[in-house]
Amino acid sequence: MAALIEVKDLVKTYRSGDSELRALDGVSFAIERGEFVAIMGPSGSGKSTTMNMLGCLDSPTEGVYMLDGKDVSNLSGDELARIRNVTLGFVFQGFNLLPRLDALGNVALPLVYAGVEPKERAARAMRALGKVGLGSRVKHRPSQLSGGQQQRVAIARALVGDAPLILADEPTGNLDTKTSEEIMGLLAQINEEGKTVILVTHEPDIAGYASRVLRFKDGKLVEDKKQTPKRGERHV
Ligand SMILES: Nc1ncnc2c1ncn2[C@@H]1O[C@H](COP(=O)(O)OP(=O)(O)O)[C@@H](O)[C@H]1O
Ligand SMILES: [Mg+2]
Repeated sequence: MAALIEVKDLVKTYRSGDSELRALDGVSFAIERGEFVAIMGPSGSGKSTTMNMLGCLDSPTEGVYMLDGKDVSNLSGDELARIRNVTLGFVFQGFNLLPRLDALGNVALPLVYAGVEPKERAARAMRALGKVGLGSRVKHRPSQLSGGQQQRVAIARALVGDAPLILADEPTGNLDTKTSEEIMGLLAQINEEGKTVILVTHEPDIAGYASRVLRFKDGKLVEDKKQTPKRGERHV
């Protein structure tokens, strides 16, 4: 079977006026199913640009991106949206929950777009919230939850479609150390249960949970290292 992710000679340029910025400058790597990968590097090195490509939020200027055996380098916005819905779940630093929806409504949202029936949506969202330890908070709105709980809701939302790939851009960036460890323990558990997890962080402690580190500098991949992952405590 092909790797879950394969990128080859990926280039992303941003144009502003006459000048051109090469945010990604010829990046190639493959990620197998079941890996837990941390993307590291200084600010401005291309980490988020890489995640946005991997997450089909944006297309590369040059190069090839094969996701789950399919070339997704040059798809239209609609096609990318469909692939996002089926193949991956995204977790953001700022949680990105809808303030007017309760936890259940936020988690069920991707299933609305996928055309799942309301009753089935609620059942699956309940199951996902139970999985992240929030079975007793389903009627709470984001403002009634702590930062860590909000990030758990976001993780449940990423899991609810049963996509094979979870992408997280600085998921602990807004959380204190103890809560960060809980969130990383949860992501490690999700990985152990079979999901491929890719995470961006600039904190070595957080990257320690991954089994592989990709390090970026100036839009280039400068290091690709396997490591023994730190195993998180189980919190749910
Ligand atoms: N939408 C954009 N338009 C113009 N430049 C951008 C845009 N997004 C990112 N960049 C630039 O691309 C480079 C890489 O950015 P980014 O991938 O966000 O870095 P990181 O996440 O590693 O901090 C930076 O120089 C940044 O300013
Ligand atoms: Mg970034």
